[in-house]
Amino acid sequence: MNWQTNIQIRELADGQTIPFDLLLLADPSREMIDRYIHRSSILVAYVSEEPVAVYVLYKTSEDTVEIKNIAVVTHLQGKGIGKYLIQHSIEKATQDGFRYITIGTGNSSLEQLYLYQKAGFDIFSLKENFFTSQYPEPIYENGIQCKHMIMLRKNLF
Ligand code: ACO
Repeated sequence: MNWQTNIQIRELADGQTIPFDLLLLADPSREMIDRYIHRSSILVAYVSEEPVAVYVLYKTSEDTVEIKNIAVVTHLQGKGIGKYLIQHSIEKATQDGFRYITIGTGNSSLEQLYLYQKAGFDIFSLKENFFTSQYPEPIYENGIQCKHMIMLRKNLF
């Protein structure tokens, strides 16, 4: 599928169906998603009007917005859509007047750490034992237990 010529990213309006199937790809806990989703902007990417990806922006302070969730439908992963969404989120956060954009991911999420650092995010803090204390089941990726949340930040100006 040639997604580049067909992709459209639109913010979900109040009352529109939230794509929990996509959000759960990035965050396996519906309970955790419910803690932020109703106070966030939800940006959905459509290819030929099919929802194929999502990212979620949550304002954490006057000058900072966090990407709380980013996900691409499984069969379209690895084709550049995630990178495109990260660029889109950076442009949106800049236009919305924020000074910083942040994102958190697990210590075991090697591909995500690569993607975010390549997009200009720098590691600035660690939420120690976040995943072991907040999630009921242990999470493993790349043969590593996901224990801590690594926080990354990009300056927007
Ligand atoms: N292994 C290593 N590198 C990879 C892989 C892989 N399996 N897949 C892609 N990459 C590289 C690409 O080569 C590319 O690098 P490049 O810029 O040097 O070419 C880079 O990663 C970005 O690749 P994309 O194709 O843009 O990534 P994708 O469209 O798959 O989106 C995402 C990335 C969002 C992580 C997607 O794979 C996904 O939805 N995964 C499941 C959900 C998830 O983990 N979400 C993030 C959780 S953290 C959070 O939500 C805040």
